Amino acid sequence: MSWQDEYKSKITTPNEAVSHIKSGDKVVLALATGEPFPIIEALINHRDNYSDVEVISMLSMGKSDWANPENKGHFYYNCFFATGANRAAIARGEADFTTIYFFEVPKYFEEELHPNVMLVQLSPPDSNGYCSFGTAVDFTKPTAENADIIIAQINKNMPRTMGDSFIHISKLDYICEIDTPLPELPDVPIGDTEKAIGQNIASLIKDGDTLQLGIGAIPNAVLSCLHDKKNLGIHSEMISDGVVDLINEGVINNSKKSINKNKSVVGFVMGSKKVYDFVNDNPTIEMRSIDYVNNPAVIMQNDNMVAINSCLQVDLLGQVVSDSIGLNQFSGIGGQVDFVRGANMSKGGRAIMAMPSTAQKGTVSRIVPFINEGSAVSTTRNDVDYIVTEYGIAKLHGKTFRQRARALIEISHPDFKPALISEYERRFNEPFAV
Ligand code: COA
Repeated sequence: MSWQDEYKSKITTPNEAVSHIKSGDKVVLALATGEPFPIIEALINHRDNYSDVEVISMLSMGKSDWANPENKGHFYYNCFFATGANRAAIARGEADFTTIYFFEVPKYFEEELHPNVMLVQLSPPDSNGYCSFGTAVDFTKPTAENADIIIAQINKNMPRTMGDSFIHISKLDYICEIDTPLPELPDVPIGDTEKAIGQNIASLIKDGDTLQLGIGAIPNAVLSCLHDKKNLGIHSEMISDGVVDLINEGVINNSKKSINKNKSVVGFVMGSKKVYDFVNDNPTIEMRSIDYVNNPAVIMQNDNMVAINSCLQVDLLGQVVSDSIGLNQFSGIGGQVDFVRGANMSKGGRAIMAMPSTAQKGTVSRIVPFINEGSAVSTTRNDVDYIVTEYGIAKLHGKTFRQRARALIEISHPDFKPALISEYERRFNEPFAV
């Protein structure tokens, strides 16, 4: 049978495809822009056919209503990255949360969790019958390769990305041809605070550095300050719209990378149609799975690797909280620590953690004597390198307790400085102004 005939024989509807899922199965959703929403909707609509189906997602851009009362007993939701759609359910104990370094997820699934069904979204097949995982290669591709059943939405709007991003149609079990637009991130305006943070971070970036950029408004603010740099590279869990102009201008050309020279190495893509169109059929974008992209032992092989991530709170010793606010799980560890460690181990590398100096409309300081009760340390005081706010840069790596506290107080918001100085004087038994 030709691959074309085999492909046709697998075409079905979402309703028929999900009828092959059984009670007790462990179903994994592709990441973010790779989620096949029509298939997910069919699964939810057929809830009465199942009991105890475990649904596993990392960062999801969907409704995440697996834990809603009508789904109780039918689905059990195991979430690896909280969002606005599932935070409340996790806090109420109706959904579970798993925390694990992102680069370890494929190994953890293969060796411990053993999910058996994968729901993905792929580009249409090329002339040899290979579909691309498009914007979501990350943990999606290795997990699909180990699943017993792959149900795929084939979508003309899914870019055909290059790199280690392909799967042959013979590996797919059920195919649903549905052309839906990819979900897009809202355009987050860059305010004065983010602009100042971006400029501070840009002062730490040298020509020829290789960059990782995390999630949120700050990475885009940083990129907007890099137009006068030269020969930058990308080795990043994700990319968004901010890199497109810099690549087109030649600021990012990957020419100085120690590995994967001339290619931007990326795990997933999340932004607007601008970046989705840019990565389509683009041989300079090398999509790789997360056990490669986020592996600290790989990251460190690039000299001058700079990791840029955001956080929520930092205590005076440099313990960084990035994914929880008290006992509330706000997001997830993602690849933050993977990249902090990889960058710290890289020759000439730097790990930068950025945050506005305050939160909650200026009512709370993010630099605090003690982290909130219940909050979890994401990046430890041993791993932390630079902390950046709109007020400046604190270099913490290898510094004493006193030096750390001083450097952090210097970049705190003026409204909260007096209280932090009092804490410094109490803790270290010396006047701050020495
Ligand atoms: N106390 C109380 N509330 C706080 C707070 C604190 N210390 N810090 C932040 N908040 C509130 C903010 O006020 C804001 O709420 P609002 O919108 O109602 O004002 C909300 O929490 C989000 O804060 P913000 O700083 O705007 O978050 P962000 O969208 O920029 O995301 C992280 C920042 C840290 C959550 C995000 O980068 C993350 O999840 N990081 C971990 C994963 C990671 O780094 N991955 C890297 C590879 S992609």
